[in-house]
Amino acid sequence: MTESHTHRVIPLQDLRPLSLPLPVAAQQPGQRISANGLLADTRARALHDLRISVTDRCNFRCNYCMPKEIFGTDYPYLRHADLLSFEEITRLARQFIAHGVQKIRLTGGEPLLRKHLEQLVEQLAALRTLDGQPLDITLTTNGSLLARKAAALKAAGLQRVTVSLDGLDDAVFRAMNDVDFPVADVLAGIDAARAAGLGPIKINMVVKRGTNEQEILPMARRFRASGMVLRFIEYMDVGATNGWRMNEVMPSSEVVQQIQTELPLIPLQASQPGETAQRWGYAGADGQYDPGLGEIGVISSVTQAFCHSCNRARLSTEGQLYLCLFAEKGYDLRQLLRSGASDADLANAIGHIWQGRSDRYSELRSALAPDTGAPIKRVEMSYIGG
Ligand code: GTP
Ligand code: 5AD
Ligand code: SF4
Ligand code: SF4
Repeated sequence: MTESHTHRVIPLQDLRPLSLPLPVAAQQPGQRISANGLLADTRARALHDLRISVTDRCNFRCNYCMPKEIFGTDYPYLRHADLLSFEEITRLARQFIAHGVQKIRLTGGEPLLRKHLEQLVEQLAALRTLDGQPLDITLTTNGSLLARKAAALKAAGLQRVTVSLDGLDDAVFRAMNDVDFPVADVLAGIDAARAAGLGPIKINMVVKRGTNEQEILPMARRFRASGMVLRFIEYMDVGATNGWRMNEVMPSSEVVQQIQTELPLIPLQASQPGETAQRWGYAGADGQYDPGLGEIGVISSVTQAFCHSCNRARLSTEGQLYLCLFAEKGYDLRQLLRSGASDADLANAIGHIWQGRSDRYSELRSALAPDTGAPIKRVEMSYIGG
């Protein structure tokens, strides 16, 4: 070991979270929860959306998610044997669907770094919801590999993609991804996704005050009337490594105001329950919403929490079930799976875990005591996915 290695301090305490024990009832005979799509948690929230992380690696180092100082070359990423296989993911997904899941989002890290991902898409696309419909299958990507993979993903059954893009100015974009990746290549990826029919495409922009707020209007102009939906996301205190500060959050209300100075907007109704984004439509010359100009979304996780309708479960790359983006611990479904549990056992465990769910971190955030300086043990976004 070199001198520099012995002196490096790497805050690893939060990076491999401990598992929570399975609820006792889940292991007791006779305590079955029927998988009929009627599952609700302690706050009457249904289980609708499953987000599956397929890798904890990413080729970008966005400062708000995987800062370079922490996610360096010696960062202990998961080993291949730790990852759920595609068969394991599909088997678990089937049990979630039995409880009512209708939408699956593949995330990462960067999901397109997982080899042969289209094979997983193909397996998931063959599943059906409780009422016999195909699932809504989508994927969140940084777009860097889309140009190469869009056609194969579409052929495998992927319906749509959401692409993260934090600005159009090349210098700003290269600085934000912190690996000097050119914006033109992401735009080419978006074009490829469009050409492959992976729509409607959503574009997610995390807005950080002092970093990319000057990109709001150029982004709005670019994606207006494009058939794509641009969404502005408030920078969140997710994970324990991004050094989040409230003064770097740009409230969505300010984003909307800024766009309104040039491009008039009209508030739109939510399109489905539990939607993360508030929708705003562009107004035409008559002052009414013009569908041809399209819409934007604002995701106000910090200033206007939406926990009351949160219907999302998250499965980490190694098969831990997380009930909240801000959870400290997950439930080890991989262990259950690899211990020989039957499908009914798996569905039962998922049912009991969801029934016990009370998480609502974002709603409680404002009521929390100010920072005590104690180490935060939250799971990283790159580990369970956005
Ligand atoms: P669509 O069906 O495509 O609209 O999916 P979605 O609204 O779930 O959107 P997406 O997965 O693109 O999420 C966008 C961003 O919203 C994420 O990257 C997060 O920053 C934030 N987000 C999504 N889900 C949650 C959540 O459950 N809690 C919080 N606090 N933020 C979330
Ligand atoms: N705040 C808000 N969104 C975040 N993402 C990652 N980290 C954060 C954060 N701190 C979201 C972004 C990105 C997706 C993968 O996760 O939307 O596009
Ligand atoms: Fe990678 Fe997305 Fe995280 Fe950026 S936000 S480091 S692209 S996973
Ligand atoms: Fe859901 Fe947790 Fe986000 Fe609230 S903070 S919306 S409970 S994931």
